[in-house]
Amino acid sequence: MVRGIFSLRRGVTGIFVFIFFGLIITASYLLEEGQSSEFLKNLPISNLGATTPGGNKGNPGNVAANGRPPKRPNNGHPAPKMKPVPTHVPPPIRDPFPLLERGERPPPIPSYNVPRHEMHHEYGLDYVPPLFIGFTRQWPMLLQCVVSYITAGWPPESIIVVENTGVQFSNRQGKLSLQNPFYLNHAVLKRLGVTVLQTPVLLTFSQMQNFFLSEAHNRAWPYYFYSHQDSLVYSFEDGADTVHRPGDREFEFYDDDEKHDIMNPPAAGKKGYRTIYENALRELNTTLDREDHWAFRWFQYDHLTLVNREAMDAVGGWDNLMPYYGSDCDMNARLAMDGWTMKHRRIGIINDVSTVLDDLIVLYRDKNVEPKWTDPNPPEEKPKEEGKAEEKPKQEEEQEAAASTDEAAAAAAAAAAGATSEAIEGSLSYFRKLVKTGNDMGKYKYRDDEWRNTWQLSQRGGQGEPYYYNSDGFAQSFWILAEAGREVYRQKWGHGGCDLVQETALIPSDAWLVEPDWITDEPAAEKPKDGRR
Ligand SMILES: *[C@@H]1O[C@H](CO)[C@@H](O)[C@H](O)[C@H]1NC(C)=O
Repeated sequence: MVRGIFSLRRGVTGIFVFIFFGLIITASYLLEEGQSSEFLKNLPISNLGATTPGGNKGNPGNVAANGRPPKRPNNGHPAPKMKPVPTHVPPPIRDPFPLLERGERPPPIPSYNVPRHEMHHEYGLDYVPPLFIGFTRQWPMLLQCVVSYITAGWPPESIIVVENTGVQFSNRQGKLSLQNPFYLNHAVLKRLGVTVLQTPVLLTFSQMQNFFLSEAHNRAWPYYFYSHQDSLVYSFEDGADTVHRPGDREFEFYDDDEKHDIMNPPAAGKKGYRTIYENALRELNTTLDREDHWAFRWFQYDHLTLVNREAMDAVGGWDNLMPYYGSDCDMNARLAMDGWTMKHRRIGIINDVSTVLDDLIVLYRDKNVEPKWTDPNPPEEKPKEEGKAEEKPKQEEEQEAAASTDEAAAAAAAAAAGATSEAIEGSLSYFRKLVKTGNDMGKYKYRDDEWRNTWQLSQRGGQGEPYYYNSDGFAQSFWILAEAGREVYRQKWGHGGCDLVQETALIPSDAWLVEPDWITDEPAAEKPKDGRR
């Protein structure tokens, strides 16, 4: 998902951030180009504040040291004109895992997903490769992601949540409230057994990637995985899975035998069953056996990615001057030009989602709870227009339909399973409901490009808390910086499209030395809009 992360249209931004020097770049750009530049015209969501309002009634974040809002000075200047107070505000979010929130320990994961002790040794590895999950905002999404990895069999001790919130020690000290977008519950993550690593300052996506790399150097990890926080993953518990999910790319195989093997995995309880984690170790083993010059293995674009540190070093890491979108195009192109391979491979079921399960206990197969999900930032209900269905009822309908077809499918599959033990079959019939639920959540996210990233605005509180930042302002800044990054990409390569290898004859040393290819004698030629794919 390098691509997902970066492109507004395709992307799922797991990691959103903005940075001081990014602001400087943007500011100087604006000074040079003026407000009517291409740059601003290209902005995808320039009216974001108006359509996706924040809870900023009056001037709430503004609390002085004495605990009261500073008085507006009576200095002869008129009071500023305030933006209209939004009428549509998403409902407050709920913690998605009440059991952990109450201080209890998580229930056991399905026995067949429990990772074998020191499993990495079975695949020739002398250390446990870490899984980095970057977090900037929206705790329910992060928690869902982490719990899905753990219940699918990923060892918690190898998961490193990278807290990249820019709130210094506020979360560690429990000073933020759940409605604050940057809220993260250290105690809950500890109870799950995962590690939290705090970035010293708020990093952009590209900086975060370079931060993973620097950690990998510090700790002598030649290979590592990273995942986006809006992934919901499962192992192939039910055997073969042929569903094409919206985030999936064409998977690549080395040969037909391998393809058959990968596409027909044994189900849980059967000989040869492997979790997504075991498949990840196996994939690393296979890659090392087969290739010297590999860079990434993507398991649904970069929603989950295996990284070869050596390749990153060989091309000089991520370009920090492209904070978000476009940076993946730049990275992939530089790697490919330099002969490093990237492949789309298949190790498990990965859903790219924008919604959260109502209670994450369902991932532990609690049969007393039905898998249901909620959009943390449901679209505003517009007055009914003829011929236009409303979003929310449709979602409810889908969930109901899902529940009934699930039961039928589960019964049929149970009958077919024969030899599988009763306990495993019980767990698998519940698993099928989870898979269906994940599929529906993925479809919902991709129902319309406009709404793909709305979940990022679901939490708007935290006024008066340490390091408070207006959530709409954060979102707007994100898109401004994202567009600045696209412009850096265009100027660096003199080309607007994402795939430099397919679309140009550029080599790495051409960076910043070539004239733009959109300036031609053709009168119709126009500067391309952006570097997104
Ligand atoms: C892959 O794993 C096998 C054992 O399953 C091991 O013998 C082999 O050395 C491993 N390959 C690499 C490159 O580590």
